[in-house]
Amino acid sequence: MKKEEKKFLTPEITPEDRELDPRLRPQTLKDFIGQENLKTQLRIYMEAARKREESVDHILFFGPPGLGKTTLAYIIAKEMGVNIVSTSGPILEKPVDLSAILTRLQKGDVLFIDEIHRLNPQTEEILYGAMEDFQLDILLGKGPSAKSLKVSLPSYTLIGASTRIGLLTSPLRARFGINFRINYYSIKEMESIIIRSAALLDIPIKEEGAKEIAKRSRGTPRVGNRLLKRVRDFAQVRAEGKITGKVARDALDLLGVDEHGLDELDKMILGLLVKEFGGGPVGLKTLAVAIGEEEDTIEEVYEPYLVQQGYIKRTSRGRVATSKAFEYIGIEMEEQPTLWDKRR
Ligand SMILES: Nc1ncnc2c1ncn2[C@@H]1O[C@H](COP(=O)(O)OP(=O)(O)OP(=O)(O)O)[C@@H](O)[C@H]1O
Ligand SMILES: [Mg+2]
Repeated sequence: MKKEEKKFLTPEITPEDRELDPRLRPQTLKDFIGQENLKTQLRIYMEAARKREESVDHILFFGPPGLGKTTLAYIIAKEMGVNIVSTSGPILEKPVDLSAILTRLQKGDVLFIDEIHRLNPQTEEILYGAMEDFQLDILLGKGPSAKSLKVSLPSYTLIGASTRIGLLTSPLRARFGINFRINYYSIKEMESIIIRSAALLDIPIKEEGAKEIAKRSRGTPRVGNRLLKRVRDFAQVRAEGKITGKVARDALDLLGVDEHGLDELDKMILGLLVKEFGGGPVGLKTLAVAIGEEEDTIEEVYEPYLVQQGYIKRTSRGRVATSKAFEYIGIEMEEQPTLWDKRR
């Protein structure tokens, strides 16, 4: 049962997501809810580029999974009226994989590289010249007789997305003219996203129902959409297909998502930190082994939200539980407050 629950609460893309996503994915900036400052800036950059008949400068989107990085890349291409070529860091194994894509680009195209922090160093190096001077250096042959050939590329916009900005090398980062951190969404914004998705999926929903789902979506549209789908299942079997506040609450309780948006794994992390390790500090590796999850998943998916909500703190010596975490688990913090609480 636990494993089942985790399946739809972990913000990873399931086949079901892929199927529903195209319908739920906003197609224009107007449909893209929240991130107001980012949208205002993007509109200006796109209009300026259009006026100059140039492509938009290279853009880097970074932030936790499921907040709309890929969606934004597609919206930009659509609003600029250009093609988008989509690839990702781990797929581009050899430099030649990237040069093949680059040489096929047409003027103005968007090249989207997801998980750009996972490019291998040789491939990344090709990108430097290709981004800065729209020049591709191709090495012909091997050894001392090797010749380098310069190929000019049409102007294009590289859009990179990353959940791990810290892993991006500084030369690569410096070549993006535009940098955007995508933030978690407010409950109000999540509510609008849930209502929009419900309309697209033809699910009758009351404001209170949308609010309940929004509150428990950890500020993440992908999680919100997934919870909405699960609540819809519950509503169809138990409540004539309509999502009211009560239906949403009952369904979400059944799913093990509490009113703070924390799921079973979040609770496990906090429980371990507080009960087994007396609040920490605990190293990521130890935590991952104790929980039985990948280090990457904990670091990229779970921790950012727990940190943002003030339950845990990342320190150089490891993860530390805050007084909010102790309160949540229902254990009094020891008289000796942790370093983190002293500093606050
Ligand atoms: N601002 C938004 N308004 C409405 N729906 C949104 C918004 N942002 C994201 N979504 C929805 O959430 C889903 C996930 O977004 P998206 O795939 O763009 O996230 P991502 O940041 O690329 O995640 P990952 O890092 O896992 O690749 C989209 O399919 C879309 O339906
Ligand atoms: Mg994505």
